[in-house]
Amino acid sequence: MLLWDETLFKNGEVLELDYVPEYFAHRDSQMQALKFSLKPAMRGMRPVNCLVKGPPGTGKTTAVLKVFSEMKEHAGNVVFVKVNCQMDSTRFAVVSRIYEKLVNIKPPTSGIAFRKLFDKVIKQLVDSNKILVVALDDINYLFHEGHADEIMYSLLRAHEQYPGVKIAVIAIISDVGISHHFDPRVGSVFLPEEVEFLRYDANEIRDIVTNRIQHAFYQDVVPDEVCERVVEYVDLTGDLRVGIDLLRRSGLNAERRASRKISLEDVEKAYEASRLIYLCRSIRSLAEHEKTLLGLIAKENNMQAGELYKSFHEITGLGYTRFYEIIGKMSDSQLLDADFSGKGMRGRTRVIKPRYEPQDILKCLEQ
Ligand SMILES: Nc1ncnc2c1ncn2[C@@H]1O[C@H](COP(=O)(O)OP(=O)(O)O)[C@@H](O)[C@H]1O
Ligand SMILES: [Mg+2]
Repeated sequence: MLLWDETLFKNGEVLELDYVPEYFAHRDSQMQALKFSLKPAMRGMRPVNCLVKGPPGTGKTTAVLKVFSEMKEHAGNVVFVKVNCQMDSTRFAVVSRIYEKLVNIKPPTSGIAFRKLFDKVIKQLVDSNKILVVALDDINYLFHEGHADEIMYSLLRAHEQYPGVKIAVIAIISDVGISHHFDPRVGSVFLPEEVEFLRYDANEIRDIVTNRIQHAFYQDVVPDEVCERVVEYVDLTGDLRVGIDLLRRSGLNAERRASRKISLEDVEKAYEASRLIYLCRSIRSLAEHEKTLLGLIAKENNMQAGELYKSFHEITGLGYTRFYEIIGKMSDSQLLDADFSGKGMRGRTRVIKPRYEPQDILKCLEQ
């Protein structure tokens, strides 16, 4: 039995999702490539832009944050900003985040135009003679509706309008199987160094998971077979975040049973929740009407676009254009398949299918 103040966690903080680990192995070549690209900034030159690519949970964000914090110590003339594009999903929000970092004050949220705020940022950079490095993390969330191109364009062409300003962009794309392309006007000024993050192999996963277990739990709390099961699940999903979340949840499950050891059943139970983190997270970032539409699609498998639109319109009062925009956005973020097939109006009808188990979608929608 565990006493009320007893715990299995030596340091539970290392299992938080935004924790930046001290031990970060198996990414040396990527870290080198990033450092090499940013190095010119130390000599007052514009750094090389980077395109960081790879599946979710392969260490992209962590690598960039680690490089930033190492370089910060040696480069007082450089401002490093990481923007989470899933949260800051417009050009204005991104520039607000940069402004906030530069002057330590949040800009007003209304009554100021993008252009004006952007001018302030540039002026601040020029006046303080600083170089700006912006990491646009998970920029794939900005591809629909063209926000990604707008932001990149503004940042990368700033020096044409404001001579002397030096800005470099690290675009981080979470690669979920669809290819994203920037507008050619962006492409011609971006010219990035590409840094690829491949999935970890089973040995690498085992090494990282074992290390995290040592920091997080007291000795003997996690039997080898439990560690191995966690490694298998990470290998299955390719996403280390699933493993870290699994460890945290299985630890809590064991505590709830008042056990001093985590069992395989604790892991299985935890996996039910962990495997849905991605889905739930992308669902949480949807607007209300988007959630409504996704709910309809999950309830009625394989609905034709026409019928779906009718139900959607009845509930929300929104029109066709908006309906198709939302479908496009959700199929970009891999929630839906929207195929043209069969016959219908003008010879083709779209069948819209969810890409996850409908009951999983409904579960996440309820949260
Ligand atoms: N090489 C590694 N060593 C230790 N932990 C890692 C490593 N790679 C990823 N992680 C951990 O896995 C989780 C996901 O990493 P993250 O950088 O957020 O991935 P991405 O940005 O590619 O989705 C984080 O909790 C991070 O600490
Ligand atoms: Mg990331």
